[in-house]
Amino acid sequence: MGITAVIRSVSHHVPTRRVTNEDLSKLMETSDEWITERTGIKERRFIEDDSVTTSTLGEAAARAALEKAGWDAKDVDLIVVATLSPDLYFPGVGVLLQQRLGCRTIPALDIRAQCSGLVYGLSCVDGYIRSRQAKKVLLVCAEVQSPVLDLTNRGRDMAVLFGDGAGALTIEAVESLSASEAGRGIIDSYLGSDGSGAEVLCMKLPGTARPGFIKSSDIEEGLVHPKMDGKVVFKNAVTRLLETAQVLLMRNKVTPDQIDLVVPHQANLRINEMVRQELKLPPEKVFNNIQRYGNTTAATIPICLSEAVAEGRLKEGNLVLTLAFGAGFTWGGNLIRW
Ligand code: ACO
Repeated sequence: MGITAVIRSVSHHVPTRRVTNEDLSKLMETSDEWITERTGIKERRFIEDDSVTTSTLGEAAARAALEKAGWDAKDVDLIVVATLSPDLYFPGVGVLLQQRLGCRTIPALDIRAQCSGLVYGLSCVDGYIRSRQAKKVLLVCAEVQSPVLDLTNRGRDMAVLFGDGAGALTIEAVESLSASEAGRGIIDSYLGSDGSGAEVLCMKLPGTARPGFIKSSDIEEGLVHPKMDGKVVFKNAVTRLLETAQVLLMRNKVTPDQIDLVVPHQANLRINEMVRQELKLPPEKVFNNIQRYGNTTAATIPICLSEAVAEGRLKEGNLVLTLAFGAGFTWGGNLIRW
């Protein structure tokens, strides 16, 4: 008998501290006009203080998702976390959440696929469920990126793009769907990678490729901040997001007009607008909130999903397409009957 991975709930949590484009223009030579025109971003959230970490943001999102699903933390039998900004170099955030949430001594797995964290995560969870290794899964995507941004002129190209935040989903193995739930679940996923782009968007330190691991001069030279060739990332993003959409639509014999909502990664409003126009979709079928949160890397898509449900733009039975592209390069998407 077939088994399906059904999303039972989604929730999110963002820090309360709003940082507007105007605020950033006091720290570096930038302007609301430049940031809005190039990216669509108006503001982002930064952690309030050092007590907030990736695992505390993730915990808040996870607790809210568990409550919505009516699950106890003890019901969960697998934790999957996607992040590029873990609390510690090791161990991963998965084990920290196992402890914080009070889960049983279940497997806890960290995924490093950067902005593709959610789409890789859902594909991974789907595999665990279809192979009957897990029944109730918690997928958490969380990032605290503000402390590693170079908030000076030197880092302004990157600093204006990113924010902090978290999203979480509960996903359940369903052996045979009832008539009212027929067709629900993760239908298909498509993933890709191209490591030739690894240094186009990366943060080199701390890392074992650096002789001596990390030196005090590295900090002075700014090597501890993320770096990017934005134009190369932009072009690759548009190409790979469209490739992902086309493969998932063709493989599942779905036409763009049958999709109820496309939820793309939030790296740049212009990227998402190009993808929307290429797929010939009306604006209301693509969910964006980059204006308010910037790029929260792995957390963008779950934050969008959570807000889309809250706003009534995503309802049970809807056909959803997620699309992501990020550092690596990595990319992919999921076709889901919500
Ligand atoms: N404010 C004002 N001016 C700036 C800023 C800033 N914050 N940053 C750069 N500039 C200047 C540049 O120095 C340059 O000046 P010059 O013409 O005198 O040399 C000028 O603005 C244009 O810079 P470009 O980099 O050419 O601007 P572009 O139009 O390419 O936009 C951007 C840059 C927004 C970064 C764009 O390339 C982009 O969005 N790329 C994709 C980002 C992305 O998808 N990231 C992937 C996800 S991240 C992840 O996976 C972790």
